[in-house]
Amino acid sequence: MNERAEVGAADWARLSELRTRFLGGTAGVSNYWTDRRTLELYDRFFAARIGWKWDAVLHELKYRGFRPGGGPLLDWGCGTGIAARCFLRTFPEAGGAVVLHDRSDAAMRFAEERLGEAASGAASGIRRAGVLEPGVVEPGTTVLLSHVLSELDEGALDGIVDGLLRRAGAFVWVEPGTYAESRRLIAVRARLMDTFLVAGPCPHQEACGLCAERMERHWCHSFSRPPVEAFTDPVWAAFSKQLGIDLRSLPYAYLAMCRNKPVAGAAPEDTGTPARVLGRAREAPAGVSVLSCEAAGVYEREIRAREAKGLVKMLKKGRTGPFFRWKLREGRIVGGSVDEER
Ligand SMILES: C[S@@+](CC[C@H](N)C(=O)[O-])C[C@H]1O[C@@H](n2cnc3c(N)ncnc32)[C@H](O)[C@@H]1O
Repeated sequence: MNERAEVGAADWARLSELRTRFLGGTAGVSNYWTDRRTLELYDRFFAARIGWKWDAVLHELKYRGFRPGGGPLLDWGCGTGIAARCFLRTFPEAGGAVVLHDRSDAAMRFAEERLGEAASGAASGIRRAGVLEPGVVEPGTTVLLSHVLSELDEGALDGIVDGLLRRAGAFVWVEPGTYAESRRLIAVRARLMDTFLVAGPCPHQEACGLCAERMERHWCHSFSRPPVEAFTDPVWAAFSKQLGIDLRSLPYAYLAMCRNKPVAGAAPEDTGTPARVLGRAREAPAGVSVLSCEAAGVYEREIRAREAKGLVKMLKKGRTGPFFRWKLREGRIVGGSVDEER
């Protein structure tokens, strides 16, 4: 699709119908990739937004020393293949063959085409696999899953966790940042802790603190920043208006696990308590409060402006890490640094 091609009323209606399916949880029932135009529109808008989430996740994983499995890349439920495209852009050294899997042949073909055009990696070829025979999971396979959870019942999810991921070398799974998706990813994490190390989002290898009592209402999610074009290109303004989507808010949940210990850069001199802020900071009378994920658990912590002015300012602006190293006093955060690319 020509990036500048006109998007007409019928196109917006088609996108809106797709969105209703996704939000209504009915997308898993049947194949909705009925024609090429639907794939083109999905790729131009929904997949682009999903790609912005992947970019945030992969940027973080790269910084944290995540290492792909060393074998082929498998994009499960690939759709138009945005996950594989983003992954190969960030990890071109992933190298091996790319396997595209989807129940829709048209989607796999489309993904193959787009990946071929992007072609920063995939030097060893792209293969479509409509049926995943057990042998497809070669040792070291890195599995990518993106926005597929709401289309999977528990049986299908079991098949992915025990039949596919347990054999993989590493996997990255990105989903919308909703309560339901986050909670299902947390359950997947718990099932696979005996096999893998957590590369993200957790700043620790312990049980998930959100599984503790009184944490039931919370979920693990982050926000990525859309690129400038989302606010300058009139077609994105039209997209936002036609579909009623706030472009500023791009919440995601993710899980990345690997067999090889991640090799992050040296920790900064002034180490504090490694933490991740879940969701956004909330205004509090003396500053802000955050839900802080740490090795010992998840804590609601207060940050007072008079004790940590810079941190409060940063968090109020919506900058939430991804990681922090807190200085704690009496349960409050009184200082700390953003643990980010140095
Ligand atoms: C919402 S789309 C996401 C596509 C792509 N991963 C992305 O992030 O843009 C979900 C995809 O999962 C595929 N899918 C759903 N159930 C599937 C199944 N049981 N086996 C294979 N693919 C499936 C659909 O055909 C669709 O392409």
